[in-house]
Amino acid sequence: MNLYLRLLKYVRPYILRLTVALICTAIAQGTNLYIPTILGKLIDNVLINKDFASLNFVAISVIVVMLLQGIFLYGQTYFMAYVAQKVVIDLRRTIYQHLQRLSIVFFENRQTGAIMSYITNDVNALQTALVDNVVDLVGQSVILIGSVAYMFYIDWKLALLTFLSFPFILQAIKISGKKLRVKSRILQERAADITAFLQESIMSIKVIQSFVRESYELHRFDRENDNNFRAQIKTVQVSAVITPIVNILSALGVVAIIWFGGREVIHGEITSGALFAFIALATNLSNPVKRLSNDYGNIQKALAAAQRVFDIIDTKPDIKNLPGVSPLPPIKGQVDFNNITFEYKPNEPVLSELSFTAKPGQMVALVGPSGSGKTTIANLIPRFYDPASGRITIDGFNIRQVTLESLRNQIGIVPQETTLFNGTVYQNILYGNLDATKEQVLAAAKAANAHEFIIAMPEGYETQIGERGTLLSGGQRQRICIARAILKNPRILILDEATSALDTESEALVQQALDKLMVGRTSFVIAHRLSTVRQANLILVMEKGHIVEQGTHSSLMKLGGLYSKLYNTQFKKNNNEDLG
Ligand SMILES: Nc1ncnc2c1ncn2[C@@H]1O[C@H](COP(=O)(O)OP(=O)(O)O)[C@@H](O)[C@H]1O
Ligand SMILES: [Mg+2]
Repeated sequence: MNLYLRLLKYVRPYILRLTVALICTAIAQGTNLYIPTILGKLIDNVLINKDFASLNFVAISVIVVMLLQGIFLYGQTYFMAYVAQKVVIDLRRTIYQHLQRLSIVFFENRQTGAIMSYITNDVNALQTALVDNVVDLVGQSVILIGSVAYMFYIDWKLALLTFLSFPFILQAIKISGKKLRVKSRILQERAADITAFLQESIMSIKVIQSFVRESYELHRFDRENDNNFRAQIKTVQVSAVITPIVNILSALGVVAIIWFGGREVIHGEITSGALFAFIALATNLSNPVKRLSNDYGNIQKALAAAQRVFDIIDTKPDIKNLPGVSPLPPIKGQVDFNNITFEYKPNEPVLSELSFTAKPGQMVALVGPSGSGKTTIANLIPRFYDPASGRITIDGFNIRQVTLESLRNQIGIVPQETTLFNGTVYQNILYGNLDATKEQVLAAAKAANAHEFIIAMPEGYETQIGERGTLLSGGQRQRICIARAILKNPRILILDEATSALDTESEALVQQALDKLMVGRTSFVIAHRLSTVRQANLILVMEKGHIVEQGTHSSLMKLGGLYSKLYNTQFKKNNNEDLG
């Protein structure tokens, strides 16, 4: 019931059009009652009493009624489609807007494809239910109620007799409807599994082909399909049983009418035409009943879909603005970690009691073996996650006590995995600051060592780059991302292995661009090539979630601990590579 009310909330803005649609439906479907009732008149007045005037009336009135039906059917289809489309668009927008606010953790715990399935398949199921089933529900109810009323008007005793079978039919519909709702919830989940599977394997096609795992993947896909098939069949089984049952029950009703009604005509209690009209209405009755049960089942399915959609909308973001926080004013860029403990899973700390200070404009390097917690530290600064305990402050402001937007607006991130959006090179750089002028965009590209290769492309800044920017090399993509970060002009900069995926030649170009980008900003640099962090003001050496050493390159080398060991190993290896 709650679900209906929530759905109704989305329909409310279009209530006027919906009302028009439903009135059109009622009239259009109501006209269907005209033919069976006029048949009674045709038999009594024309066939039996041979009245010409009545014949003309019957012929003309049928034409008029059908014309009316056409007009109102148009209104029904047009207005209902309008309302349904609008509702679906609103709903999709609400989900998307909500998804964007959800925390990173939400996405880590779910498959992308499954989330996509909720926004597409489930929302579409709602639309179908709204357009086809709700309209039909109203239309068929009008036919049903109209028929029943007219049957009582013709002969109430016969009508009562007919409806003896009704409670049985309704019970059958109710039971199957409940079953359908459960089965189709499972069905939609299996459909989401398939979307998720496809999404994942299309994204990983290179890996699949390189491991020659096509048939292995096909086998996995078969299994998903098989699950889907079984869920599908189970749903069909439920709905397949209901139709024959309803048919048999209604046939029994018709037999009773013919038998008792025939006796009444013989005794002269009703006319032949009246009985004929009655039978026509009664036999047509099974049609609306069947359709209503079908609609009911589909609406149950749609409600299962609605439930999943609302489950997403109801998911609260873990990371959000605390009540009453104000924006972070423009910062100088001092970052303090005070006794930070962080865990992804309860009681498994990834960072323990961590403290350090980055002064405005300093370059802080995070080094250490992989898995030691470097990326995690970087993720805490823009509040992608909140620490379990401890305080992070920027210029003395606790970052949990300022708005997320004002915090993230002053932080720039250049990750190892570059993300370019569908669109032109220009649009991708402009993403860093939507208000920037053309000159500023070009200046940013120049500072990022990107301008040269961009203008060398046939369409320059207007070159389209695909979803994953396939036209460009890794180094070129990274330089576009750097230009984007330059345009954003953040006070705090995070470079997480920004050059790790690049070959030596493009690394040099990117490194040059990064060096320019870092000037005057507090920067956190994670790099596994230690030669690039030698000039850092502060090097934090991480191991298993702890800072085990900190200082400058020279002081750490003098110390002779983990850092000097890592550095010497790399230095030796590089020398060997140079020699070899
Ligand atoms: N999203 C996550 N969920 C659970 N554990 C994670 C997640 N990301 C990283 N970890 C774990 O946290 C530890 C630190 O990871 P990370 O900060 O990525 O290390 P680094 O960047 O130094 O290689 C690792 O043990 C890693 O397995
Ligand atoms: Mg990392």
